[in-house]
Amino acid sequence: VKIVNLRLKVMDNHNDSKKAEPRVNEKKCSWASYMTNSPTVIVLIGLPARGKTYISKKLTRYLNWIGVPTKVFNLGVYRREAVQSYKSFDFFRHDNEEAMKIRKQCAIVALQDVKSYLNEEGGQIAVFDATNTTRERRNLILSFAKENAYKVFFVESLCNDPEVIAANILDVKVSSPDYPERGRESVMEDFLKRIECYKVTYQPLDPDDHDKDLSFIQVINVGQRFLVNHVQDYIQSKIVYYLMNIHVQKHSIYLCRHGESQHNVQGCIGGDSELSSRGKEKKTKSHYCKTSELTEKHLCCLCIVIFLCVFVLYQGICEEMTYEKIKETHPDEYFLRDQDKYHYRYPGGESYQDLVQRLEPVIMELERQGNVLVICHQAVMRCLLAYFLDKSADDLPYLKCPLHVVLKLTPVAYGCKVDIFDLKVEAVNTHRDRPLAVPPTLLRRNSFTPLSSQDQVKRPRLFSVGNPPRLASVPALSTTRFPEAEESEDQSQASLLKAIQLNSSLFV
Ligand code: SIN
Repeated sequence: VKIVNLRLKVMDNHNDSKKAEPRVNEKKCSWASYMTNSPTVIVLIGLPARGKTYISKKLTRYLNWIGVPTKVFNLGVYRREAVQSYKSFDFFRHDNEEAMKIRKQCAIVALQDVKSYLNEEGGQIAVFDATNTTRERRNLILSFAKENAYKVFFVESLCNDPEVIAANILDVKVSSPDYPERGRESVMEDFLKRIECYKVTYQPLDPDDHDKDLSFIQVINVGQRFLVNHVQDYIQSKIVYYLMNIHVQKHSIYLCRHGESQHNVQGCIGGDSELSSRGKEKKTKSHYCKTSELTEKHLCCLCIVIFLCVFVLYQGICEEMTYEKIKETHPDEYFLRDQDKYHYRYPGGESYQDLVQRLEPVIMELERQGNVLVICHQAVMRCLLAYFLDKSADDLPYLKCPLHVVLKLTPVAYGCKVDIFDLKVEAVNTHRDRPLAVPPTLLRRNSFTPLSSQDQVKRPRLFSVGNPPRLASVPALSTTRFPEAEESEDQSQASLLKAIQLNSSLFV
């Protein structure tokens, strides 16, 4: 084998007994650090093709979306960096001493990167995506975590269903960089032998004895059953909650905004206005068609239709104003928002960040369901879209969600396929692009948001703790493109979308 990564040689002198170094960049930690009083390493365990990477990526996307900076460290990537050409399963035999040495060094290098991320780059959670099938390897990780005062939470995926394993191999391993230009059968054969190599030394977690004091969840047969042990804190309970809600069945989420409203036409934000004349025309049609058999029939394809009318980004003192009016009457607010649109909270209103938090139960419900249609407001659609497409907080408020367009999101392997359907009903464009430049250094430290109770307390702006707002030099305009998107010709799909179109007009 040819080792191409010099870092591996440097790490030959790795000294496990080194003292923990202080966290050098405490200030960089996110607002959400209150959820994780010390950084956490989530350690995957499981034989190959047990969905570890799927779980790692999905969990990471969720944690980032709720505001906990999280990053995946995939050991396969480190191994491929070290050994460029994978030949066969022989590399994974436990008696292949040379390969075993390289694999351990890869793990050590990956853990060093975990440490840099958690100590220096403001990370809160590192997901160590590897098989970690032996106690020896897990002990190495536990000592590393202890030295650095990290918490460890194991996620073990146990699966003995040959159909699920085969489907996983065909879904993601056939296209793995380990197998360029190899046929499906040859990949399947090699990969099954790779799994056998791991089985020889696999020591699953032992909840009753050896591992009874560790914190972990065992996900059995893709969520048929769970075993949860010794959950240490809030973030671990959130991880458990999330993993217990997701499923792997094929499904699609249709996102669509309400029909055009009078406020949309006037360029006003918020409020609760009537439909525009185009909306009214559609409404009449939809009332007519709602009683037709065709519409009812096709709506049955959906498990659930969610009208998220109560979820709207509340703009406080700026409700029902146009952007021009805000600029004229509240110029500071106007520019403060441009500086950091995600964190900006309207006085007496909300920020996108607030809205994301309110929408978390909705995401959980969308994860639990089959095919779902969600009809919602622009800001809500952006938040949901950012979750499914793994968009950053910075990009979220600028995602393009036009009126009278349906986005069909279909989770696939490690991502999400997007189909865009234009409902072919004209509507105004309510999108406001990211400003190219904003006046420098506007800073407000406090704001308040009315609570649902009578009490009104002043709450510090969330970014005031170690996460300053972006100032000046706003990056160039970014647009959202969905390269995978293409119009479907499928007839039943078209009928379903027609149903969506008709029903979306019922709601403003
Ligand atoms: C890999 O090299 O692809 C995975 C290594 C491991 O986690 O055992």
